[in-house]
Amino acid sequence: MNFSFGEYKTNVYITHELPKLSDITADFNNALIIADENTREIAKKICDKTEIAFCELKSGEENKNWQSVQTILNKAHNENLGRDCIFIAVGGGVIGDIAGFAASIYKRGCRFALVSTTLLGMVDASVGGKTGFDLFEIKNLAGTFYPALSVYMPLDALSTLPKKEFKSGLAELIKTAVLAGDDLLNDVKKMSNDTSYDLLRSCIEKAVMYKGSIVSEDPKETTGKRMLLNLGHTFGHALESACGLGSITHGEAVAWGMVRACELGTKMSITPGLRAKEIKDTIASFGYNYECPHPLAANADVLINTMKSDKKKKDGKITFIVPDTISACPVTIDLENEIDTIHNILKGGFNL
Ligand SMILES: NC(=O)c1ccc[n+]([C@@H]2O[C@H](COP(=O)([O-])OP(=O)(O)OC[C@H]3O[C@@H](n4cnc5c(N)ncnc54)[C@H](O)[C@@H]3O)[C@@H](O)[C@H]2O)c1
Repeated sequence: MNFSFGEYKTNVYITHELPKLSDITADFNNALIIADENTREIAKKICDKTEIAFCELKSGEENKNWQSVQTILNKAHNENLGRDCIFIAVGGGVIGDIAGFAASIYKRGCRFALVSTTLLGMVDASVGGKTGFDLFEIKNLAGTFYPALSVYMPLDALSTLPKKEFKSGLAELIKTAVLAGDDLLNDVKKMSNDTSYDLLRSCIEKAVMYKGSIVSEDPKETTGKRMLLNLGHTFGHALESACGLGSITHGEAVAWGMVRACELGTKMSITPGLRAKEIKDTIASFGYNYECPHPLAANADVLINTMKSDKKKKDGKITFIVPDTISACPVTIDLENEIDTIHNILKGGFNL
C-alpha cells in the first residue's frame, strides 16, 4: 500500500516476517536505529550482522519526553550522521512518535522509517505523520507532521507483545471500525473469539487503508476530515492526563472515551441509541473498563480542567467527535455553556 500525505509519500508493508535492514536502508549511506528496552531484540534481529548506530530509549509513555528526543539527537550527532541518513524506529507508538519528531528536526529534517511492533502502532500511530512528545504533563503538546518514508508491519513481532498492550491496540481498531463502517466493524467484532492470523491481518489492512485515505485528504488536520480520527480522544486524553501519563494504556483511555462520546452524542440526539449500544457492547466484549467515573480518576473537575487545556480548544470551544448513524461527526461546544452536560457525563450520571 502507498499513500501521499501532502508532499510526502509513505509505503506500507504488512508482512509475516521482520524486514531486512538492507531493504530499509537501500537508498541511504547511514542510518540510526532507535528502539526501547523491550524492542531492542527485535531491532537486533533486523540488523542481522550489519554494524549500525543504535540508540536505546527507556520504554513507556512516561518517557515520551524531550529528554528522549535529546538522547536521539545526541546519538545522531555523536555518530556524525548527516541529513542524508535515515532514522529507523523499531517499536510502538511511543518510539514512533519520538523518533519521528527527532527525525523531523535533526539537521532540519532527515528521513525516517518505522518498524511497527505493537497493534496500536500498526492500526493507527505509524501511518499519517503525527510525531511528538508529552510536555508539562500534557500529551503530545509538542510535535510535527512528518510522515515516515516507509512503514513495516511484521505481524511476527506481535508474538512478544504483552496482552495488555495488544488490548490497547484493539481500542484504536474498534475506533477505526466505528468510523469506517460495517465491513470492518463486523470483522473486529469477530476478533473477540477468533484470534486467527488471517482475520488479524485483514483487520489491520482495512484499518490502515481507512486511516491512509482519511489522512491523504487532510494531511495536516486543516479541513476537519482527519479530526474524525480523534473519536474518544478528547475524553480519553483527559483521562490519561488525570490518571498520570503512563498509568493506563492509551487504548484503555480511548475505549473509555468512546463510551463517553456515545453518551454525549446520544444526549445531543446525534448518536442513535442502538448505535451507541452496539459500540458499547463491542467495547465491553473485549473486557475494557468503561465505567464512569473511572476508578483511577473519579474527580470530574480534574478531567474538565484537563480538557480546558486541550490543544484543540479554541475560543473556549472544544470539538468532540461523536458517533452518528454510519460513522462519526464533529460537535463543537462551548465548554462553559455545556459544563453541566459534560460534568454529568464525567460523574457517571448518564446511562446509555
Ligand atoms: N502518531 C499518531 O498518529 C498516534 C496515533 C495513536 C497513538 N499514538 C501514540 O502512541 C502511543 C501508544 O503507542 P503503543 O500503544 O504502541 O505504546 P508503546 O509504544 O508504549 O508500547 C507499549 C509497550 O509495549 C512494549 N513493546 C512494543 N512492542 C513490543 C513487542 N513487539 N514485544 C514486547 N514488547 C513490546 C513497549 O516497550 C512498551 O512498553 C501513545 O503515546 C499515543 O499518543 C500516536
